[in-house]
Amino acid sequence: MKIAVVEGDGIGKEVIPAAIDVLDALALPLEKVPVELGYGKWERTGYAITDDDLETLKECDCILFGAITTPSDPAYKSVLLTIRKELDMYANIRPIKPIHGIMGVTGRNDFNLVIVRENTEGMYSGIEEIHEDVAYTKRVITRKGSARIADYACKLAKSRQHRLEIVHKSNVLKSDRLFLDVCRETASSHHVEYHDTLVDSMAYNLIVHPNRYDVIVTTNLFGDILSDMAAALVGGLGLVPSANIGKEHAFFEPVHGSAPDIAGKGIANPIAAILSMKMMLEWYELTEQAKVVQDAIEYTMNKKMVTSDLGGKATTKEVGEAIADRVRQLIG
Ligand code: NAI
Ligand code: MG
Repeated sequence: MKIAVVEGDGIGKEVIPAAIDVLDALALPLEKVPVELGYGKWERTGYAITDDDLETLKECDCILFGAITTPSDPAYKSVLLTIRKELDMYANIRPIKPIHGIMGVTGRNDFNLVIVRENTEGMYSGIEEIHEDVAYTKRVITRKGSARIADYACKLAKSRQHRLEIVHKSNVLKSDRLFLDVCRETASSHHVEYHDTLVDSMAYNLIVHPNRYDVIVTTNLFGDILSDMAAALVGGLGLVPSANIGKEHAFFEPVHGSAPDIAGKGIANPIAAILSMKMMLEWYELTEQAKVVQDAIEYTMNKKMVTSDLGGKATTKEVGEAIADRVRQLIG
């Protein structure tokens, strides 16, 4: 097991060390390779990510990633887009599952869904033209890209409740006609029950009827927006993990960003980062260890050892250490 550890910027530097505390508590035979990427590196060196960094990332099995700050400077090329494309991590998986003892904004916990977001094309194609009075971004939807994300979502649905929701805007965007058709064909070939919803209607339904959904598949930008919104269902951005999966590599990161408003204060919630590390354990098929981490998180949350976003007083480090201690107890 060889893991690249990228803390990144802002609260990435706080939540990733907490996730590493918990990982270390499992005492697994693994090699951690620290890699510096992001805005801080760009300010210091003029590069946010270099070819050597990419090589190092490719030499590792997977990446545990905090968050990076993206400045508005058009000369800055997104590190995340570069990594996702270079390592061809096409599937972005964001589980929206209540954590025992914590309630989201809707006050309900009767849902358990996963958003599967296409990660390499759509509005984030990177094909853009910026002129003084007009700017264009090309939305790219391919049959190949749609088929492989639909295939991933169908396989996931088969391991869960066999229900697929295809989210699109095909009434307006011709490109989504292709996405919808390919998703339907793929779901039929997998014998997975499917339904489709327009993205604006989905935004409403996700908040009002989250229990209707099992696996949601959608394009890049829609998945990005819906998954941040869905974070409110479970209690905030500090709680939602994600995985970016490709054929050869995988990349695990909290859904939240570098949170400059709270960075450096030691109050960021590390749960999203710890749950992302748990998704990494599942990717390695270390199911028992992943369950230990989940149990330790719930135990700690139930003891109200939580950060201020959840109404507690604990620091990032204290939450990480409490979960790591509980992991050590559980594996005894
Ligand atoms: P953000 O997710 O960093 O913060 C949004 C709000 O949620 C803030 O009020 C923040 O304090 C709060 N928050 C986020 N994570 C939290 C945590 N773990 N515990 C407690 N509160 C938390 O999004 P924002 O402010 O839009 O972006 C800030 C920077 O992060 C930008 O430069 C953006 O480009 C970048 N970003 C990076 C991502 C990544 O590296 N994957 C993802 C999203 C944004
Ligand atoms: Mg986002």
